[in-house]
Amino acid sequence: AAASAAAGDLAGRTVVVSAGGTRESLDPVRFLGNASSGRMGVALARAAALRGAEVHLVGAHLDVPPPSSVTVHRVGSTAELAERMTSLAAEADVLVMAAAVADYRPESSSEHKIKKSGDDGLELRLHQTVDVLAGLSASRRPGQVVVGFAAETVPDRAARLQVGRDKLARKGCDLLVVNDVTAGAVFGSPVTEVAVLSRDGGVVEHSGSKAAVAHHVWDAVLTQLG
Ligand code: CTP
Ligand code: CA
Repeated sequence: AAASAAAGDLAGRTVVVSAGGTRESLDPVRFLGNASSGRMGVALARAAALRGAEVHLVGAHLDVPPPSSVTVHRVGSTAELAERMTSLAAEADVLVMAAAVADYRPESSSEHKIKKSGDDGLELRLHQTVDVLAGLSASRRPGQVVVGFAAETVPDRAARLQVGRDKLARKGCDLLVVNDVTAGAVFGSPVTEVAVLSRDGGVVEHSGSKAAVAHHVWDAVLTQLG
């Protein structure tokens, strides 16, 4: 990683990385969210900046501070993240969707705090959010590289890689970084274990700090950039 950083092998490239977790509001004080800390996306942004890239970090509710070497764009909901990624895509050589995106949003967000009603439960009607990664992949320019992430709870390695391959095909991205979150050991953790799948069927596995893994992901991106 140190040698790559010294080489400045991403100099002249503009990269956009999403990080953190989107939230869909239910009312002014409540939301549907997820446990993403943003550590992996922030590590990717920092690594790219060290290697000379111009970096835009689209951050949704980050638990960790972003490096001062990147331009930060704060977003909250999936719709906001989609809009910002799409507009930054015009300038980008590489788009990385490391954010954990809410799959569903409430059909409506109440303007006032939802009050309890007697002893009754509450039913929420949810709609699917827009698939940001699939959209970015479908509208990418020639030569632009699009990277997705997948956190899977499939303990069997071979089965997990197959789920990853199917997801890569469905999303239409160039690379998909798959990790196993079965034990809940990845969210918020400084270390991770990933398999980097490429469109051509390649699989490369890495484990270690999120910083080290981030550099391996950029190595893979460079092979795609050509
Ligand atoms: N993603 C996205 N927009 C969504 C959902 C996911 O851009 N609405 C992106 C994530 O940022 C990630 C990739 O798609 O890079 C895979 O996310 P994942 O949750 O694993 O895939 P889904 O298609 O949502 O499938 P599922 O959650 O059912 O496994
Ligand atoms: Ca999902």
